[in-house]
Amino acid sequence: MKQHALTAQQFGTTAQAYLSSAVHAQGDDLRRLGALVRQLQAGSALDLGCGAGHASFALAAAGAQVTAVDLASEMLEIVAGEAAARQLTGLRTQQASVDALPFDAGRFDLVVTRFSAHHWLDVVAALREARRVIKPSGTLVIIDVVAPESPLCDTLLQTVEILRDASHVRDYRLSEWRELLRQAGFAVPRTDDWALTMEFASWVARMRVPELRVQAIRDVFAQAPQEARAAFRLQSDGSFDLPVAWMQTKPNAG
Ligand SMILES: C[S@@+](CC[C@H](N)C(=O)[O-])C[C@H]1O[C@@H](n2cnc3c(N)ncnc32)[C@H](O)[C@@H]1O
Repeated sequence: MKQHALTAQQFGTTAQAYLSSAVHAQGDDLRRLGALVRQLQAGSALDLGCGAGHASFALAAAGAQVTAVDLASEMLEIVAGEAAARQLTGLRTQQASVDALPFDAGRFDLVVTRFSAHHWLDVVAALREARRVIKPSGTLVIIDVVAPESPLCDTLLQTVEILRDASHVRDYRLSEWRELLRQAGFAVPRTDDWALTMEFASWVARMRVPELRVQAIRDVFAQAPQEARAAFRLQSDGSFDLPVAWMQTKPNAG
């Protein structure tokens, strides 16, 4: 199966769980997205890999006209239903892949992506598409899991991520994001990072991880060296802290 089909399948079958997931439905980053819409007076916003729509809802509630894009049609049905329930009339959905966006150039004031970029098959192509559809004065915000700069911790994180979700591609390091953004024509981002505690049972249940893979993740954690256990604040039940970052940037001129 090709990676896009695998992603659509993984998220199509788990869409409802993402609507109710506290990790996705809550967070200061959602309030910050709303504040950014008001601060920039952003009329139009694009949410790349909208999932069950939590970033889109925050943007639309703050007054932006939002286009929510995802590969998985089941996610988009949930977003449309929830937007109607919340009376967010300025939100529309569009099925597409982030690396081939069906929008004219220079269309959006604000382009946002939250907890999706680590699934993208071609992140450079996706960032180039973001660069194409954003206004020259626009703002790009990437919120995603970031790998530690330590090779040991980076390897451990990618290992448990792909055991949990076969459509995982890569949690990039902040140093890699700076270079990817530069290649795609964006300025050096302003970044903030924090940790999200993943409660093990709900983290694997949300993705319906088969028992064999749950045991493999537990085994990887059990064998992890002390440096990695400390970095991820690994707990005895398998819960751990996931490093997350907000990266905010603008297109370079030209
Ligand atoms: C964890 S969910 C996103 C959560 C959501 N943004 C939020 O704020 O709660 C990841 C989403 O990215 C989508 N996705 C992954 N790769 C994609 C791609 N190439 N194009 C569009 N959507 C993609 C998946 O289908 C999935 O719905």
